[in-house]
Amino acid sequence: AVQLGPMLAKTGMTTLDVGFVNTSSCTSAITYIDGGQGILRHRGYPIEELAEKSSFLETSYLLIYGEDPTEAQLTEFTEKVMGQVELPAQMTPLLQAFPQDTHPMPVFSAGVSLFGTHGDDLDIDDPKAVDMATARLLGRGPTLAAATQRIRAGKDTVAPDSSLGYVGNFLRMTFGEDYEITDEVVKALDMLLLLHSDHEQNCSTSTVRMVGSSEAPLYASITGGINALYGPLHGGANQAVLEMLERIQAEGGDATDYMDRVKNKVDGVKLMGFGHRVYKSYDPRAKIAKKHADALLSNSNDPLLEIALKLEETALADDYFVERKLYPNVDFYTGLIYRAMGFPTEMFTVLFALGRMPGWIAHWREMREDPTTKINRPRQVYTGHDERSFTPISER
Ligand code: ACO
Repeated sequence: AVQLGPMLAKTGMTTLDVGFVNTSSCTSAITYIDGGQGILRHRGYPIEELAEKSSFLETSYLLIYGEDPTEAQLTEFTEKVMGQVELPAQMTPLLQAFPQDTHPMPVFSAGVSLFGTHGDDLDIDDPKAVDMATARLLGRGPTLAAATQRIRAGKDTVAPDSSLGYVGNFLRMTFGEDYEITDEVVKALDMLLLLHSDHEQNCSTSTVRMVGSSEAPLYASITGGINALYGPLHGGANQAVLEMLERIQAEGGDATDYMDRVKNKVDGVKLMGFGHRVYKSYDPRAKIAKKHADALLSNSNDPLLEIALKLEETALADDYFVERKLYPNVDFYTGLIYRAMGFPTEMFTVLFALGRMPGWIAHWREMREDPTTKINRPRQVYTGHDERSFTPISER
């Protein structure tokens, strides 16, 4: 039981909702989720339709500007984004100065933070400056991610080539000349980026809004979101899923022991890629990712896919998971597809960040455009000492 401190009595009623389980922090017209029924819509359009008929950049436009673009608008937007794919000149040496064996997420985050050193996003009330910062984040994001990976692998960075398109250029910059950029891979990666493009007030997006509510500029706010995404309970789960599958494979491929540890909560072991704060049914993004994993990996006979499918089947028939309404989330199958494309496991969360970029930007802009926005400043319930008298250290 919480004992209410004297300050609280002075400030009147407040609510305590640890983890914001039942608290809305804002109104938003961007994304609708019905967690009970497994519905996800962006600006009213079902994710299934967007994944099938739209593209990552088209959906980015939709999220950021509120309506789906005409062909002319999409061309203009794409040209604007692809016109910003070069990193600022001094950036590569700075990235090379980080320890080579470090995780790519802090490097990616530091890189986006460095965008802010040019000051081009400082006038947060100038729509043109905000539009340019928007294009720069979408354009430079893949270049920064690819450079991060090349430097980790001890390789030279690869200059962008806009003629290859958004995803093709990213693949070329990441893997170099020898990588075969097929339509199938481009489509699959584009679709995965799109699947991650927004998810209302998740931990990272709430962080973007939290930072931005102090009127911090766009790059600084997005950097906050990237750091929030890093954790294994959020975007870091895609890496954690793959590591879990590899661990089960190393233990002989039978997941019974692992599942027992999960259900008995041994050392806090979880079935990574399962469960969601909002979805109490199958995550619609996971359904789409699973379908694509099946199609893309069917020829490769990836033993990790077999393990993943078996884990899902076992979990969905198990009372522990059924009672708690735990289903696969978007991260359960995406890592297998990234792996098949050739991305190292540690890059998976960076790929999530590239996909979530338009959502973060759209929320920052929506918040800035909302005249009712105030600085986000939650209260707390104080549980510490009442007033007491301080004894100097020499007398204690
Ligand atoms: N494996 C085993 N048990 C789980 C899992 C899981 N993956 N997820 C939740 N549970 C259990 C909890 O231990 C708890 O059990 P209890 O009632 O016996 O105490 C119950 O289910 C409710 O879980 P909470 O932790 O209260 O759920 P919450 O909404 O706070 O957490 C979260 C959601 C963080 C996603 C959680 O399900 C989890 O840790 N999943 C694994 C990590 C993961 O996949 N994260 C990605 C989320 S999606 C995304 O960010 C893109």
